[in-house]
Amino acid sequence: MRRKIVAGNWKMNTLLPEGELLVKQIEFLTKELETDVEIIIAPPFTHIATLGKYIKDYEMNVSLAAQNCADQEHGAYTGEVSAKMLHNLGCKYVILGHSERREYYGENSESLYKKINLVLNEGMSPIFCIGERLEERESSRHFEVVSQQIKDVLYRLRGVELAKVIVAYEPVWAIGTGKTATADQADEMHAYIRRVIGDKFGDYSENIPILYGGSCKPSNAKEIFGKEDVDGGLIGGASLVAQDFIGIIKSF
Ligand code: PGA
Repeated sequence: MRRKIVAGNWKMNTLLPEGELLVKQIEFLTKELETDVEIIIAPPFTHIATLGKYIKDYEMNVSLAAQNCADQEHGAYTGEVSAKMLHNLGCKYVILGHSERREYYGENSESLYKKINLVLNEGMSPIFCIGERLEERESSRHFEVVSQQIKDVLYRLRGVELAKVIVAYEPVWAIGTGKTATADQADEMHAYIRRVIGDKFGDYSENIPILYGGSCKPSNAKEIFGKEDVDGGLIGGASLVAQDFIGIIKSF
């Protein structure tokens, strides 16, 4: 039985007071919730310490993730935040390789491989994002693109390291666009991703959670999560509204 996971990626949204309110609402709505879904939130760096304390004080069943980390351990890297700093604040996860970071900040497989290792060395788990652009799907290169993203980074890990990774399949054309992959498109790609991981790592692939991301909301989550190879979601816009975020969690 694979883990079920719903992770909220807040991106560069909310001021701290708004973030605190959102966590309070999540706390209220999850208090009575009996669920086997692991709930993760990834707020901006500036909120992590405060929200982490709240989560701890109220014994919330929510784990903290960061949205990125530095590709160096420590030192003279102005403006960067290290994996160790994030772990020290209670983060269990770090989202790595989100398409917005690949696209706008030039992240590539080399820097992502370094980041994955730093995150793993701290005992945290990477939520490793992959996915094709619209033109790549339209020219039927989506499988090739996704497989290359996996080979360039994940194939360089050892099996025991790979076992700590969560994969998020996020077709770039579905992120923030309101356009979701159909449940069948998601399932097809998730099964493919598991096969590509399995080609290198054998049975390890069976236990890797693969999350879907891209305009996931309460109205479509049930169908997507109902698919065999979909183990949850990485949620952007809808994670900023507590009711919607919990609605998605309840879709399992
Ligand atoms: P979205 O974003 O749910 O707003 O499409 C998903 C993501 O980028 O993780």
